[in-house]
Amino acid sequence: MLRAIDENTITDAAIEQMAATPNPRLKQIMEPLVRHLHAWAREADLTPEEWLEGIKFLTAVGQKCTAFRQEFILLSDTLGMSSLINSLHDKRAAEAGTKSSLVGPFYRTDSPPMKLGDTIVTKPSNGLEVVLYGRVTDKTGKGISNASVEVWQPDETGNYDLQKHDPSEMDLRGHFHTDSDGRYYLRTVAPLGYMIPMDGPVGDMIRAQKRHGYRPAHIHFIVGAPGYREVVTALYLEGDPHVDSDTVFGVTESLVTKVNQKDPGSPIPTLPSIKFDFQLAAASKKDMTGRVGADPSQIVKAGA
Ligand code: BEZ
Ligand code: FE
Repeated sequence: MLRAIDENTITDAAIEQMAATPNPRLKQIMEPLVRHLHAWAREADLTPEEWLEGIKFLTAVGQKCTAFRQEFILLSDTLGMSSLINSLHDKRAAEAGTKSSLVGPFYRTDSPPMKLGDTIVTKPSNGLEVVLYGRVTDKTGKGISNASVEVWQPDETGNYDLQKHDPSEMDLRGHFHTDSDGRYYLRTVAPLGYMIPMDGPVGDMIRAQKRHGYRPAHIHFIVGAPGYREVVTALYLEGDPHVDSDTVFGVTESLVTKVNQKDPGSPIPTLPSIKFDFQLAAASKKDMTGRVGADPSQIVKAGA
């Protein structure tokens, strides 16, 4: 029977046409997507010109993507979607663990292997040298030996190596493994906060919304060990002017740390230090990756 399509019946019509989707998860994802998308258009009373403007914007987002730039992830980050997906991911864990935070666009899969105590600073730097240390433990506080600790960060001016050098020259990134008691420690410089990449359509959106575009100073980590759920996270520095207004919503209270000028417990007590213990949840069958984001060059490779 012919259906009268109007601004309300269109939603059921679209969902009914998808009802035979054989993949149950695809069906479960697409139905609410259509329902909420239609409800959004009705609530905003969207005009054809505005919808076309939106399509133009999404086209520009796609056109901005390269092996070194993932504008769609930046859009997800700035709309709070990446942070929401991280929270849902953390809620699914079988046990409590360190909370997730964004991967961001400057991760590289091939950071150099390093020994405990090494510095990740490979270029001349005017930054404040600090020790970054702590333990990787299970939920009972027992150290996890040989856990993998990948770290990357911007420098004291708020720039990553990729923004300064040829991509083959790595700086301020390294790959460590914990000792038999789960301890890690390394030397680095305190990072500065920075603005997200603003020279694309997402930057235009941020300016149109009168947002400042900054991320507070932070250091990224991916920590994992066999039998445990990998955590993708970052530590944020107390006192940064944008610590409570991160443009990409990566900061949560438990990830805020501070630089201690004097710390007798530090493995190098002559330097200021940042201490943080990572807690890994036991892996469960439901665990997939927690990486909302990726090394952009790997996404391009996978899509080729
Ligand atoms: C970052 O932490 O590097 C970052 C995260 C999301 C968007 C832009 C930058
Ligand atoms: Fe970052």
